[in-house]
Amino acid sequence: MKNPNDMSFDEFDEYINPRPSETDFDRVLDRAMSRRDVLKGVVALGGVAAFGNTLMPSQASAAQTRFAFDAIAISTADDVTVPPGYTARVLSSWGDPLWSDAPDFDHATRGTGESQARAFGDNNDGMEVYPHGDKFVLIVNNEYTNRSVIWGNRAEGEAENDDDILKGMNAHGLTVVEIQQNYGTWSMVKDSPYNRRLTPDVEMDITGPAAGHELMKTVADPDGMVARGTFNNCGNGSTPWGTYLACEENFNGYFATEDQEHPVSEEMQRYGISPAGRGYGWHQIDDRFDLAKESNEYNRHGYVTEVDATDPDSRPKKRTALGRFKHENAEVVVNGDGHIVVYLGDDERGEFLYRYISDGVYAPGAETDSLLEKGKLYAAKFNDDGTGEWLELSPEATGMASTAEVCIHTRQAASAIGATTMDRPEWVSANPKAAEVYCCLTNNSNRGIEPNAGGDETTVGGPNPRKANKYGQIVRWRPDSADHTSSSFAWDLYVLAGNPVVHSDDRAGSSNISDGNMFNSPDGLKFDSNGMLWIQTDGNYSNEEDFAGQGNNQMLLGDPFTGEIRRFLTGPKQAEITGLTWSPDRRTMFVGIQHPGERGEGHWPDGTETSTPRSSIVAVTRDDGGLVG
Ligand code: FEO
Ligand code: CA
Ligand code: CA
Repeated sequence: MKNPNDMSFDEFDEYINPRPSETDFDRVLDRAMSRRDVLKGVVALGGVAAFGNTLMPSQASAAQTRFAFDAIAISTADDVTVPPGYTARVLSSWGDPLWSDAPDFDHATRGTGESQARAFGDNNDGMEVYPHGDKFVLIVNNEYTNRSVIWGNRAEGEAENDDDILKGMNAHGLTVVEIQQNYGTWSMVKDSPYNRRLTPDVEMDITGPAAGHELMKTVADPDGMVARGTFNNCGNGSTPWGTYLACEENFNGYFATEDQEHPVSEEMQRYGISPAGRGYGWHQIDDRFDLAKESNEYNRHGYVTEVDATDPDSRPKKRTALGRFKHENAEVVVNGDGHIVVYLGDDERGEFLYRYISDGVYAPGAETDSLLEKGKLYAAKFNDDGTGEWLELSPEATGMASTAEVCIHTRQAASAIGATTMDRPEWVSANPKAAEVYCCLTNNSNRGIEPNAGGDETTVGGPNPRKANKYGQIVRWRPDSADHTSSSFAWDLYVLAGNPVVHSDDRAGSSNISDGNMFNSPDGLKFDSNGMLWIQTDGNYSNEEDFAGQGNNQMLLGDPFTGEIRRFLTGPKQAEITGLTWSPDRRTMFVGIQHPGERGEGHWPDGTETSTPRSSIVAVTRDDGGLVG
């Protein structure tokens, strides 16, 4: 059997909740479902359909193209490729020291607990660059670690002592670092007063409805008001008042205990908390993570954490009002009436899509602290006819005792009101040029087969039209009356990913997918200032069978208006492309390259046979100095 730390997050979910060989649900589906019928009428082929031809013409003439590059081919090389006329240079890599008295990354040992606490974290994901005076401050999520990489110096690829475990722990959290540009090349500024590591040990305030609730109280924090650490932050968000939102995703795998018979409650099961853990070993060095010693710590993770990157003395705040689940990112929209609307995905097979609306309204310069503390949460229900609605997760509607409980057991609250189970909602992004929002539904091997543990049936249909969905799709919706606080919306699919070379049924994908731009598992998603949609993939990079001709993970650009999608960047071997932001002048695009060589193949970015593959951020510029989004 695989070591849990080598499993994908889906595989780990299945390992702790083994599925029966056939369920009643399988049998019902096999009788009832015909893919052709399911797809009929809901997929917007080439970007038309629900929104009408006026808004979404199916054809654009060459003269109307909004692409400033020629599409590139797939790649299986151990390198980053961008179109002619563009250059990608590495800005930062895992283990790069943030201070001059910290050692350079050691490829042989891969560092220590102490060196890692003073160096760039591992597996960079969501990120943002904030200008501050004439300085630029980069803040980055360091999502997780791969056992085979961080402990690859050990014969068995396992932690051999407590310091190995601490090294892994300190590689998590967030990295804040000043960056500067000299003669066109970006680099980190060592010893900048902005430089900071927020490891899983740093204190932060718990705010919002769940603060102080019984379920938040622990041995170390009997008031339930102060948590330590934020970890497994995946995507991110950014507020109009200049703070960063780090989104805690697969927090469950860090909790474990020696006794594998330790009881697992229904609440724990729904969130994937199990005595097995995913092999990080934290419970061996910190009692907070030992299920036998602390039974509430896991209720204090799985939130969105707000950080002021430009104030190194600021204290992060866990915003429980935005709910507890496996957060992907947090897409913040200022609605026309000033309300702050945050769109949020829960990335697990058969979980939900959420919306938060602040009670108060945003005004530049006015108080903002309450905007992510007081508000209402909703979950999305998609109807098969292209309409949908937001269902409020109030105590009354969910049958829960309090708003605090809704914010802690958000998944169960959304189940109670009949939200639509989704194909793993990843990043959400709102078009700055139109009142419309897009979300990557990355894939779902369980669609039409079984629910998430303790969750709801994953019926095939609506925005999740394919059984055992291997390729993923991007759904989009328009709030009624262009009002993001509206309770209803119209939706369609922007793209259904697939492989039209290997398949001729619905697995071929929608008509805007061809042998020239195909991909699988859309994940990262971000609109640029022109209203063009950048799509990053975290998919199967085998380049074989169902995925033949799709190569390494990649980044593409989509025109929401015409439906056209072009490949812009290809990543190195066994990497995922995730995390995207720009310099304030939009002449540099920063792109995250995560877990290169995660299965032992590849040495990017250093490239030599003895070098350790390292997650890194690349800075992409145009050779003519032009804008890149
Ligand atoms: Fe960390 Fe859902 O990806
Ligand atoms: Ca992701
Ligand atoms: Ca993913």
